[in-house]
Amino acid sequence: MLMSDETIFRDEQVFNPNYVPDTLLFRDKETQSLVALLRPGLRGGKPHNTLIIGPPGTGKTSIVHHIFDEVEEISDKMITVHINCKLSNTKFSVLSEIHKKLFGFRPPETGVPYTRIYEKVMTHIERKDISMVVALDDIDFLFEQKYANDIMYDILRAYEHFPRARTGIIALLSKEDFKEVLATKLYSVFQPQEVVFAPYSMGEMYEILLTRAKMGFFPGVITPELVEYVAKLTVDQGDLRVGINLLSASGIIAESKAKRKIEKEDIDTAYEKKSRFVILKEKIVVLSLLERSLLKEIALNKNIRSGELREKVKETVNTRSFSQAISKLESYGIIDSSVVTVGRGRSRTFLPRDSPKDILSVLEELSKC
Ligand SMILES: Nc1ncnc2c1ncn2[C@@H]1O[C@H](COP(=O)(O)OP(=O)(O)O)[C@@H](O)[C@H]1O
Ligand SMILES: [Mg+2]
Repeated sequence: MLMSDETIFRDEQVFNPNYVPDTLLFRDKETQSLVALLRPGLRGGKPHNTLIIGPPGTGKTSIVHHIFDEVEEISDKMITVHINCKLSNTKFSVLSEIHKKLFGFRPPETGVPYTRIYEKVMTHIERKDISMVVALDDIDFLFEQKYANDIMYDILRAYEHFPRARTGIIALLSKEDFKEVLATKLYSVFQPQEVVFAPYSMGEMYEILLTRAKMGFFPGVITPELVEYVAKLTVDQGDLRVGINLLSASGIIAESKAKRKIEKEDIDTAYEKKSRFVILKEKIVVLSLLERSLLKEIALNKNIRSGELREKVKETVNTRSFSQAISKLESYGIIDSSVVTVGRGRSRTFLPRDSPKDILSVLEELSKC
């Protein structure tokens, strides 16, 4: 029995979603390609523009953090800015993050025009004679805002007004279809080198999870066979974050039963109650109230027609916001639509991608936060 002041966790931090381990396994080739693309920036030139593409949970964000940390340690010639576009998805908020990195604080939200802040940033870079690389992480989210791609123009074309400003962008993308959007909208300024992050195999996931388990738990808490079982469940969901969450959630369950070891039943409970929702929750948490209520109706009413759905929210939103919300749900891969013939006309119908029951329970849980 585990005493009340004892724990099976050696280091609980390593299971945090934002934790970046010192060594990233199976990504040497990708790391080398990225370093090579940044190298001109370190020598006083312009870093290459890069597109990192790969499904969620393949280590894209972690590798960029790693490389940026290293760059800043070894060089004062290049400044790196990492931007989470899920959080900063307007032109102003991206610029504000860059400002924060350069000057240590954000500019005021009102009162100072965008162009003034832009000038301040670029003049600083010129004067200091440094190059700047901006990583736009989960850039898919930037395109939700109609004018957000302007910020990419502003970063990439800085040299037109500030001839000595050397700037580059690393775009991180999970959805293959957005590649087309990027290419069309930014063809003239952004022709990036591509670095592909392929999904991990079952064996690779196992190695990564085993390494993480050894860091997070005291020896003997979880057997390699059970880590393999965790890896199997993770592969089903296709995202490493499920496995990392599952390790810690089953540890918490085992500990709550005062056990010194994690058992298969703890993993099953953790999976059913928590870990299998990790990805779905991440998709839903970024949705607005309107988008959530539309999703709820779609989950409750299988194949609901556009007109019917519109009717349900008609009091509170106009047609434009309605169709924007719908296309967001579609482009995030939360719902699918199809066109059906109704009488002589046509109508669109909607279906959720995940199980309606799961969606409703995640919506319910999030509404309490
Ligand atoms: N090669 C790896 N070695 C160790 N941990 C990894 C590796 N790749 C991903 N991870 C872990 O998996 C999780 C998801 O990685 P992340 O970099 O956020 O993926 P992405 O940005 O592609 O969605 C993180 O907790 C990260 O630490
Ligand atoms: Mg990421």
